[in-house]
Amino acid sequence: MATAEPTTRIEMFPRRDGVLHCEELPVSELVARWGTPLYVYSKNGIRDRYRELAEALAPVPHLIAYSVKANGNLGVLRTLAELGAGADVVSGGELHRARLAGIPGERIVYSGVGKTVNELAAALDAGIYAFNVESEGELCALSDLACTMGTRAPIALRVNPDVETPTPHAYTRTGHAATKFGIAYERARDLYSIAAKMKGITVRGVDVHIGSQIMEVGPFERALARVLDLVHALKQDDIPLEFLDLGGGLGIAYQGEERITGASFASTLLPEILETGLKLVVEPGRFIVGEAGVLLTRVIYVKEGGGKRFVITDAGMNDLLRPSHYSGWHAVEPAVAQGRSMARVDVVGPICETGDFLALDRDMELPKPGELLAIHTVGAYGFSMSSQYNQRPRPAEVLVDGAEATLVRRRENYEEMVAAEML
Ligand code: LLP
Repeated sequence: MATAEPTTRIEMFPRRDGVLHCEELPVSELVARWGTPLYVYSKNGIRDRYRELAEALAPVPHLIAYSVKANGNLGVLRTLAELGAGADVVSGGELHRARLAGIPGERIVYSGVGKTVNELAAALDAGIYAFNVESEGELCALSDLACTMGTRAPIALRVNPDVETPTPHAYTRTGHAATKFGIAYERARDLYSIAAKMKGITVRGVDVHIGSQIMEVGPFERALARVLDLVHALKQDDIPLEFLDLGGGLGIAYQGEERITGASFASTLLPEILETGLKLVVEPGRFIVGEAGVLLTRVIYVKEGGGKRFVITDAGMNDLLRPSHYSGWHAVEPAVAQGRSMARVDVVGPICETGDFLALDRDMELPKPGELLAIHTVGAYGFSMSSQYNQRPRPAEVLVDGAEATLVRRRENYEEMVAAEML
């Protein structure tokens, strides 16, 4: 794998005189204004990552369809829309958000195994670039619907390439045959021939997505090889294509490890893609926003028991699910260094579940009640997977641009939390 230095230009969360900042602003100031738990995103960090990838892919015609599921905040989406990003959506709700943030239909691709007729209709109305179709049933439903609506649906088949994809957790591997995702590789060529004859369908591309948090280019190379075989077969079948979608999955550094770079991804994969003359679509989520977010939380109590020391915070698994759901590891540190000695702690939330933790067996400066902790690398799949479990309002979200902070989602209140219910 070719290695190149990440071209990221700004330090998103520098520490100055012991105080954690987001870009130019001390995080303690943000908490003083908006409270905790608080998600804080570095706008320039997001821009940097987008540009890193865009520059690396510049030699081929391409579309960076940001995966909205990673972080669908409108402020984040608007930031990316302004840079020319498209969107990868997987629901009517994500489509709605992407459009609201100003991402035009022609830059949107729609993936997912269970698109409903209403969702398909909304996407047809929006004039999206492509439906990444995941089953024969979906293909037929889409064709029928498009005919009824007097239009044609542009599609790619999402093919399951059946490649091994090492990711940190089994739940985030999607490229092997036994997952629910995509169309069996052996069936794809025939289904393309069927699709090409359907009245409501225009074949436009081929799509794969093999998993998430992939740290090497190898798995992408293996998936690309399978896709290229199919591309050549379709050429023989006189089925013209316009694009090739390699999905998302580029990994990031949770523990300071060497991450995949835009340059290494491009230098390995672009030569073969260039030969096809096809446009490249990618669907990165985590790569763009993951490292650009922290979750700020306040310590409520510190207690000992059973040979353990627990730091109890006002953020829990409802605010950040990754540690308990995927054994995800996130750096945790005091927002303001106190110079105290280190202690081994479990950082846990207020939720009534033993699985409610943010970090286990962590050596850190022992904080005192009232002090702030920062949980790092939570820009992706942080807020977007949060819930109101235990009837806790979800966190507020702030976007920082240099020395300017904007509240991009205010904290929910109890009235809103019951507003849709009837007594
Ligand atoms: N495209 C498709 C079709 C996807 O299913 C996904 C992620 C992406 C793109 C974006 O993948 P990324 O570039 O972000 O790796 N909640 C898990 C990750 C689940 C990923 C689901 N699909 C986590 O927190 O690790």
